Amino acid sequence: MEPYRIKVVEPLRRTTLKERSRILQEVGYNLFMIPARYVYLDFISDSGTGAMSSHAWARMIEAEEDFSGQKAGEDFIKTARKITGFPFIQPVHQGRTAENILFNLLFKKGDKIFSNTHFETTRANLERIGCKVIDIPDFRPPFCGNIDLQKLESTVKREKKLKAVILTLTNNVKGGQPVSIENIKETYRIVKKKEGILIFDASRFADNAFFIKRYTNSKKSILEICQEMFEYCDILYLSSKKDGLVNIGGFIGVRDEKLYEKLREKIIEQESYPSSGGLAARDLAAMAVGLEESIEEEFLRSHIEKVNFLGHILKENGVKIFEPIGGHGVIIIPRHAIPYSAYTLGAEIYLHTGIRGGVFGDEFRLAVPRRVYTSEHLRFTGERISVVYKKCKPAFILKLANRPRTFFNFFARFKAVKGKSP
Ligand SMILES: Cc1ncc(COP(=O)(O)O)c(C=O)c1O
Repeated sequence: MEPYRIKVVEPLRRTTLKERSRILQEVGYNLFMIPARYVYLDFISDSGTGAMSSHAWARMIEAEEDFSGQKAGEDFIKTARKITGFPFIQPVHQGRTAENILFNLLFKKGDKIFSNTHFETTRANLERIGCKVIDIPDFRPPFCGNIDLQKLESTVKREKKLKAVILTLTNNVKGGQPVSIENIKETYRIVKKKEGILIFDASRFADNAFFIKRYTNSKKSILEICQEMFEYCDILYLSSKKDGLVNIGGFIGVRDEKLYEKLREKIIEQESYPSSGGLAARDLAAMAVGLEESIEEEFLRSHIEKVNFLGHILKENGVKIFEPIGGHGVIIIPRHAIPYSAYTLGAEIYLHTGIRGGVFGDEFRLAVPRRVYTSEHLRFTGERISVVYKKCKPAFILKLANRPRTFFNFFARFKAVKGKSP
């Protein structure tokens, strides 16, 4: 059960089928573009959508808004150092800022960067510089987030040097799949042999540590597992909007003092004074508390069990999902072999239930915001979605009306062609 009780509540917003049908047409059947006030239960992202604790809110009120040397920043850095073991910590306002600043300092046109899977903004920030971005995931269970070590080794054998590998922990694809400690260590070994750097995109590091503990029956604490994971990388960055349990924030960790100095120069040029990282002191205060809470085992168990519970409700009711279920979301595999099937499924689910998920590539994902929905909300979600999923044919199919230049899933617009069977 949830290891907390509820103090503040927000009413859910009901809409009618007619309203939802109108909204879908207005937004070109793209779920990201639906105004949130028309969504009943929202599973489009687990990022920035979690609930903060009363402790975090209290610290936000207490935080003193100074220009530099903020006490809240000191508290945050202390916690970040403890969990990661990194000596130099630079707060930033979110994950993609870290990517932009860091990659511009580290990489140049033509550099090859390998990963278990680059997140969309990671890829975009690297490609803007002109880097060649290569995903080599290894989906073998239970650690379906691993990088394919054989492919990594054989690919880099041909190269004299290896620039960098980015390990995304957990791997964001397939709803957040963990990377094993052995995979981390072996990647580090290969990278070091070729004089490269290993970077962690550690936005869901605590989920990763929890899965390591669970799958290996480890007696170590979550903190100890985190510390062990972070020993095997040169640089880390993360968005605190996921496991960090805040609505905004992130940070970069480096071991090299010279790189840290360069980072600080970039931060002052583009964000704000380095001690703030472009955040208000209240945000830094919340980040310090959120980071501390993120590694509480009881909370992690509850969150990951909730995602698992939703997956099982769906499965028991005949919905095909990706297994093993990930740490922050359930991936639903569409039934109908039609073009844009995940978009059609998502639009139909929203139309009939008011529940919103997100489409990433060919997959429809329900990401579970942390500490927001109760198990009853999840049961309801699983049961209602399964009714829509099992319909013998979709009420409409989608035709592409506008192909965006980039970020297809965020910006594409469709038209519904009604009454056509798949
Ligand atoms: C794995 C991963 N890396 C980086 C980011 C970017 O972080 P932010 O949204 O804070 O910019 C995200 C966001 O969802 C993510 O999932």
